[in-house]
Amino acid sequence: MTEHATDRLLRDRARAVIPGGMYGHQSAVSLPPEYPQFMRGGRGARVWDVDGNEYVDLMCSYGPVVLGHQHPRVEAAAAAQAALGDCQNAPGPVMVDLAELLVRTVRHADWAMLAKNGTDATTMCCTIARAQTGRRKILAATGAYHGAAPWCTPRPAGTTPEDRVNLGYYTYNDLASVQRAAAEAGDDLAAILVSPFRHDAGYDQELVDPAFARGLRALCDANGAALILDDVRCGFRLHLGSSWEPLGVDPDLSAWSKAIANGHPLAAVLGGDAFRGGAQRVFVTGSFWFSAVPMAAAIATITALGEENAVEAMARAGAALREGILAQARSWELPVSYTGPAVMPFLTFTGDRDYELANVFTAQALRGGAYLHPRHNWFVSAAMTGADLALVLEATDQAFAAVRKHIGQ
Ligand SMILES: Cc1ncc(COP(=O)(O)O)c(C=O)c1O
Repeated sequence: MTEHATDRLLRDRARAVIPGGMYGHQSAVSLPPEYPQFMRGGRGARVWDVDGNEYVDLMCSYGPVVLGHQHPRVEAAAAAQAALGDCQNAPGPVMVDLAELLVRTVRHADWAMLAKNGTDATTMCCTIARAQTGRRKILAATGAYHGAAPWCTPRPAGTTPEDRVNLGYYTYNDLASVQRAAAEAGDDLAAILVSPFRHDAGYDQELVDPAFARGLRALCDANGAALILDDVRCGFRLHLGSSWEPLGVDPDLSAWSKAIANGHPLAAVLGGDAFRGGAQRVFVTGSFWFSAVPMAAAIATITALGEENAVEAMARAGAALREGILAQARSWELPVSYTGPAVMPFLTFTGDRDYELANVFTAQALRGGAYLHPRHNWFVSAAMTGADLALVLEATDQAFAAVRKHIGQ
């Protein structure tokens, strides 16, 4: 049984000085009580909470950790840059090195701009599309997550209807719904924003229909609008390049963050020459956007991803995880959906209400040393070893047993 004494004390202190005790996607307030709120550290595919409990990490900091925690090459590059300087009066040469590497690595990119968070990047993509086209309307999929700014936050508190007045909505993978929304926007259509696959938190995931992706590209071309790919969650985990490159569909603009620097704070907007003018005209900046350490970490991350065949390693580990979990679900006779790419899977129990079974499952998995999530897709890192996988599958077997027992009660 895991101990959480230190975590409980920290939560008590946090409640007094942090609104709600915690906020945002890392709040453990609505998770089963087995989840620690505070973490001490991690290495490879293992993480430790503040009470010293160890877990195999299948959330990877909600995506940023792609090579494993404290990857030696990434941390060495970051430390070398830190010894020179990080936050200065001007960016280091490392910014140009990184922009060149991104342009070489991502097929549709002729230029790169750097920022901090995924929300910075998706918001910048919209601003650049509007600056370039001189139009206002942006189409997004209903229920898709593109960040936490007033125009896109899923929780409306503190926002106004005017924040979204220039947005239109379509249904993911339903081209006719995009055509309808585009017709409504008429000659004011600036961009269509889309994620590489449907990964709305809490729902079964849906891979993109290649015909849908091609249809969006054709629609944007026909209307002179920008196709914006939100690669914040998937970028450099599904493919070493934009996530739609394997489909042969290139966006005009793409938003990146999360895995780009293996956990160091960085985001990027990449674009083609047709949108360079708009990118040049907008004023976008931030106090920490030019920090050199995360850029050095990003260069090391992207280089290691290629040299260590990390995308393939993740795909192999993800496939083994899927196979193992689905075999267990069958043997416990529990009907489940296991959706999304193998490296970003999500498990739901058929007919589960209010994540009741998902909570039982993930809480027991956590007790067994596997850190999963009941309502958010999981992330596989390239650091997963055979021993990590074996431990996870032992924990999930016990977790299925707990669900079976819970149903029987
Ligand atoms: C697809 C997608 N877009 C944008 C964002 C926003 O990124 P950030 O939280 O870094 O602002 C996220 C974060 O989860 C995301 O998954």
